[in-house]
Amino acid sequence: MQRGLLQTTPDAFGRPLRDLRVSVTDRCNFRCPYCMPAEVYGERYQFLPKKDILSFEEIARVSGLMVQLGVTKVRLTGGEPLVRTGVPKLVSLLSAVPGLQDLTLTTNGYLLVQHAQALRDAGLRRITISLDSLDEEVFKTMNGRGYSPARVLEAVQVAQDVGFDPVKINCVVQKGANDHTVADLARHFKGTGCIVRFIEYMDVGNLNGWKMDEVVPAQDIFEMINQSMPLEQMEPNYGGEVALRYRYLDGEGEIGIIASVTQPFCGACTRLRLSTDGKLFTCLFSGQGTDLRGPIRSGATDEELLELVRNVWRVREDRYSELRALSTPNSGPKIEMYQIGG
Ligand code: GTP
Ligand code: 5AD
Ligand code: SF4
Ligand code: SF4
Repeated sequence: MQRGLLQTTPDAFGRPLRDLRVSVTDRCNFRCPYCMPAEVYGERYQFLPKKDILSFEEIARVSGLMVQLGVTKVRLTGGEPLVRTGVPKLVSLLSAVPGLQDLTLTTNGYLLVQHAQALRDAGLRRITISLDSLDEEVFKTMNGRGYSPARVLEAVQVAQDVGFDPVKINCVVQKGANDHTVADLARHFKGTGCIVRFIEYMDVGNLNGWKMDEVVPAQDIFEMINQSMPLEQMEPNYGGEVALRYRYLDGEGEIGIIASVTQPFCGACTRLRLSTDGKLFTCLFSGQGTDLRGPIRSGATDEELLELVRNVWRVREDRYSELRALSTPNSGPKIEMYQIGG
């Protein structure tokens, strides 16, 4: 099937479907307090049993159908995707999907050193690694497990060595936690080819106790870096890009700032999320998803699944971050970030 013939109609606000983010596992080896607080996700927490998780073949089938509906980019996320065995196998299945232009993965880096080459060989071309601070104590607190940043830095180096291009670094900025280390992180990666993206701390999920006064506005993040390493704004790489891009005036690379709280980007949001257990979520802040796993496992045809997705997308009205900015967010329960990825 030629890509484009079956493209979805835009959603209720005229936004096309372009990106699919797939959570391959709800488990993680970190306990970042802003995502999976250790007090909630302790030893006895019940994650999804294997039978409830989409298989790699099911994920590849859904992704192939999504490409027929207009998706050009797939991001693998978690939880932490690399705690699931065999992710390079999934990457090779997805690399073989005709029409899929961009395939990438977000990881906390802890298990990357041993998997980087296999992922690269399977066809992954770029990667995003989360790293909230280079300060030992700050990072230990922010990953909730007392791990040192050294292991993640080694992963970044290996990612570059095996040829991922670009390597991006995601840093969630939380006031009082790591905001005093923002400039150091930028300085460390300046001139290395890695693109650090600073993310405003968001109220995803119900468990992180988010407060607006813990958000460091994008403008302040910009100033923290610009003061000592002058920056200028760049054009987006593509329409609807989430990060605002800035380059160093001395030519030593670029950074990104993701201002999802102070400058929401719902108007250009083309993202659909597939949870570990096979539900479609049309927004990071959705309360409920639409089950695909049931139909898949009871023998739905490709055409039936395509129709299901089209119907979900056609009526999509999500714009949570814009509503939050207007102080009228939907205050009902929300999916947790680790269940649908970032
Ligand atoms: P590139 O494909 O490299 O441009 O990455 P991306 O822009 O898709 O960014 P990435 O997937 O690394 O997302 C970075 C962070 O931005 C996420 O971890 C979220 O915190 C935030 N983010 C991404 N997508 C959305 C979204 O749809 N809504 C909101 N509110 N935040 C988002
Ligand atoms: N706000 C902003 N970003 C978050 N992430 C996880 N939780 C939050 C939050 N509450 C980021 C992670 C990672 C990506 C998958 O999502 O740090 O970079
Ligand atoms: Fe794990 Fe990422 Fe959540 Fe941290 S933010 S607990 S690394 S899924
Ligand atoms: Fe898209 Fe929802 Fe994020 Fe807005 S809040 S950008 S609609 S995922």
